[in-house]
Amino acid sequence: MSQSESDALVFFGATGDLAFKKIFPALQAMAKRGHLDVPVIGVARPEWTVDQFRARARASLEMHGGIDPVAWEKLCGLLRYVSGDYSDPATFQALRKALGAAQRPAHYLAIPPQMFASVVAQLERSGCAKGARVLVEKPFGRDLASARELNRILLESFDESAIFRIDHYLGKRPVNNLHFFRFANEFLEPIWNHRYIESVQITLAEDFGVQGRGGFYEETGAIRDVIQNHLFQVLTNLAMEPTVSTGSKSIRDEKVAVLKAIPPLETKDLVRGQFKCYRGEKDVAPDSRVETYAAMRLEIDTERWQGVPFYLRAGKCLPITFTEVVVRLRRPGNLYRDLNLKPNALRLRISPEILFALGMNVLGPDEQKPGQSVEMVACRQHGADEKAAYERVLGDAMEGDATLFARQDYAEEAWRIVDPVLKADTPVHEYEAKTWGPKGFEAIVSPAGGWHNPS
Ligand code: BG6
Repeated sequence: MSQSESDALVFFGATGDLAFKKIFPALQAMAKRGHLDVPVIGVARPEWTVDQFRARARASLEMHGGIDPVAWEKLCGLLRYVSGDYSDPATFQALRKALGAAQRPAHYLAIPPQMFASVVAQLERSGCAKGARVLVEKPFGRDLASARELNRILLESFDESAIFRIDHYLGKRPVNNLHFFRFANEFLEPIWNHRYIESVQITLAEDFGVQGRGGFYEETGAIRDVIQNHLFQVLTNLAMEPTVSTGSKSIRDEKVAVLKAIPPLETKDLVRGQFKCYRGEKDVAPDSRVETYAAMRLEIDTERWQGVPFYLRAGKCLPITFTEVVVRLRRPGNLYRDLNLKPNALRLRISPEILFALGMNVLGPDEQKPGQSVEMVACRQHGADEKAAYERVLGDAMEGDATLFARQDYAEEAWRIVDPVLKADTPVHEYEAKTWGPKGFEAIVSPAGGWHNPS
């Protein structure tokens, strides 16, 4: 183990939903690859024994990916459990004891942000913060002011280099690799600007609802849940200037530069929607005004992107589940104007499969309709992202590699952009489940040529 590697992983919220769905499977995968060799200490309120905690981990794996007997055996041997209230100093004394000889623990706060302050203060007081890293889950705050306050709290006890703000989208290889695609292809750079590109659209569509997370969703909504973080990460990867190196500082600097060039979102550039049965979900207010769908138009005020609209949209209960970028080029010159040809478009699908495709016009067989739009699929990979996002981000944080994490300035800039619309009480339009959002508003925030809605 290198000197910078964490020598214990502590996770708060160990009996919660996120741990059940994502963290235990990621830990088993790390153990399987030989990337987990340190004590894993779960902390939570229920007064469980370590065997009950192991049973929970086992149940999680059975439901999410299955048990790998060898890796499970290994993980099982690493699991420890500390029960207690997060505001009680005794919990942290017990944690200090459980940490034993560990000198560089990684504390993962998979808990609601309103608990961060007390947990961080207790970590400091009990000596558990010494030499440690802290990993925090998104959403990082709920607006600009609360994000600043969270940063203030974290920075009181931890150096910025020891703070890892998790956005699991960055652990997705195809998101992270947009940087590779941009800068490993010479043909792209000459056209990657306002002279050739007419619009960029990014969609994160899900064909399911809030899946029992009504309480969480009531506090977030689509903008806070996936746009301000996941889709902004996709956007900054697409729009950044060439980085001076592939190092984390350089990449993070350029992403922040993109955000800094985006003016605050105006209410006229936003459509919010709510799927029809949302108010009947568990823990959802009967008069809830939380959006389960949002579409927005952003601009990036740089030389490269002058006048190019960036459209972002995300929604629950839409017809299908996919995340995709469509970059539309300007229409071809005058020669074939009468044929009303489609603009060339680059389609980058991030999930469920990875796809790079280029739409182009060719002469079709039909004399009456000579122009034909075709798509050249350059690459299609199913299930290629074998290493799941949480495995990647947890592993990187424990190794101290910050590339896949949002820096303080990034988190605050991202909130600055959406802050005005979060405060403005804009209308929320109802939409039927399995449709592409509220009807009649498609034209208000939508790219020329419309959204790309696959069937
Ligand atoms: C999470 C959101 O961060 O991302 C969920 O809280 C959303 O609401 C999910 O469904 C989408 O990410 P993935 O990796 O599950 O497609």
